[in-house]
Amino acid sequence: MTYQPESTKICVLGLGYIGLPTASVLATKGYQVCGVDVHSHVVETINRGEIHIEEPDLDIVVRSAVGSGRLCASNTVQEADIYMICVPTPTNVDHSPDLSYVEEASRTLRQVVKKGDLIILESTSPPKTTREIVAKLAIPEGLTVGGDVFVAHCPERVLPGRILLEVVQNDRVVGGVTPNCAQKAKEFYETFVSGNVYATNDLAAEVTKLVENSFRDVNIAFANELSILAERWGIDAWEVIELANRHPRVNILTPGPGVGGHCISVDPWFLVHSEPDHTPLIRTAREVNDSKPDYIVRRVEALAKQFNRPKIGCLGLTYKPDVDDLRCSPSLEIVRKLVANDIGDILVCDPLITEEQFSDLPLFSLERLLEESQILVLLTDHKPFYNIPKNILQEKVIVDSRGIWR
Ligand SMILES: NC(=O)c1ccc[n+]([C@@H]2O[C@H](COP(=O)([O-])OP(=O)(O)OC[C@H]3O[C@@H](n4cnc5c(N)ncnc54)[C@H](O)[C@@H]3O)[C@@H](O)[C@H]2O)c1
Repeated sequence: MTYQPESTKICVLGLGYIGLPTASVLATKGYQVCGVDVHSHVVETINRGEIHIEEPDLDIVVRSAVGSGRLCASNTVQEADIYMICVPTPTNVDHSPDLSYVEEASRTLRQVVKKGDLIILESTSPPKTTREIVAKLAIPEGLTVGGDVFVAHCPERVLPGRILLEVVQNDRVVGGVTPNCAQKAKEFYETFVSGNVYATNDLAAEVTKLVENSFRDVNIAFANELSILAERWGIDAWEVIELANRHPRVNILTPGPGVGGHCISVDPWFLVHSEPDHTPLIRTAREVNDSKPDYIVRRVEALAKQFNRPKIGCLGLTYKPDVDDLRCSPSLEIVRKLVANDIGDILVCDPLITEEQFSDLPLFSLERLLEESQILVLLTDHKPFYNIPKNILQEKVIVDSRGIWR
């Protein structure tokens, strides 16, 4: 085996939701790992054996990895045999990719990369980022890609809340800039991943990840469009989807108030931006999903007209159920738009969110919100919202964007 944990040093750049679990899992497998982050508080927190993000069991793994001396954090890049880039890849306001973090991390590596090293880009990236940015910026002059230094892309597919399990158990796709880059990366992942590791080229690996999330976005857009049609015709979209999914080759996803989070609502834009003339379907799906919050706001406004300044109870702020994540949340967007449009008093309940995370309005308990509201707008299907007694719901005007009170 090329990579023996006890004699291989790894440097992980970016210690967030992806980098920190990856670094700590590798340390528990016996690798000597240095994690690098540009934020001093992240570095200091980890070096105390503590964590700065919420993820089940991560505190235990990090404490043990730091305690064993195999994981440490630093503000500056350290010499290693393998470098893993796990920095953010957001989009700009115009939906173009912001690759400044990947560029910066790659430039930093140029100071330390030597012959024989492996560089892996884990961040979700637009097509050709690995070969045109990482391979060009990170490799010092005089060294060749595939001959001296190996460069690959291995996209992360973990689900927040299950990261420590999935980082090990998921199947992985590793794409090399050359076939031997792919082979080196595959050998490395096979030392700690229990799922299958599939080797391909870097562009195919980048596109695979983007296609996975774009497929979901397009399918959800279809469901969202269907939900609007169903409402116009007075039929139940969720029932229609359940019935259609009885067909052996149909699998429609569920409608909602839009699509949020920092993956599905972002990654399809990387495909659209790189081939704008050849991605009408992917772009339209993004637009359909991004327009759903306005549709919900208009529904609430229409129903509010039967009252004189109603109390409108909004249930849920996060982008998906039972997490405390507000990133790109359509539920949050809807609440903010309802407040801005001033059609009534907006009451908000989200049992997963604290006042530090959401300070626009006071947060209500579920009981108080149910007591006071005339209109209920279900935005995020957190578990407690399923158990609201039918007799209470029957007294209210309801907009149920997730179909949980049908
Ligand atoms: N979080 C997820 O569930 C998930 C799932 C799949 C893929 N991804 C992808 O993984 C990548 C990382 O996402 P994340 O959620 O871990 O982001 P994050 O924001 O949680 O963490 C990124 C970290 O990188 C640090 N950083 C920025 N520039 C740096 C640099 N030049 N050197 C060192 N550190 C630097 C930041 O300070 C931050 O702590 C993104 O491309 C994302 O799309 C994330």
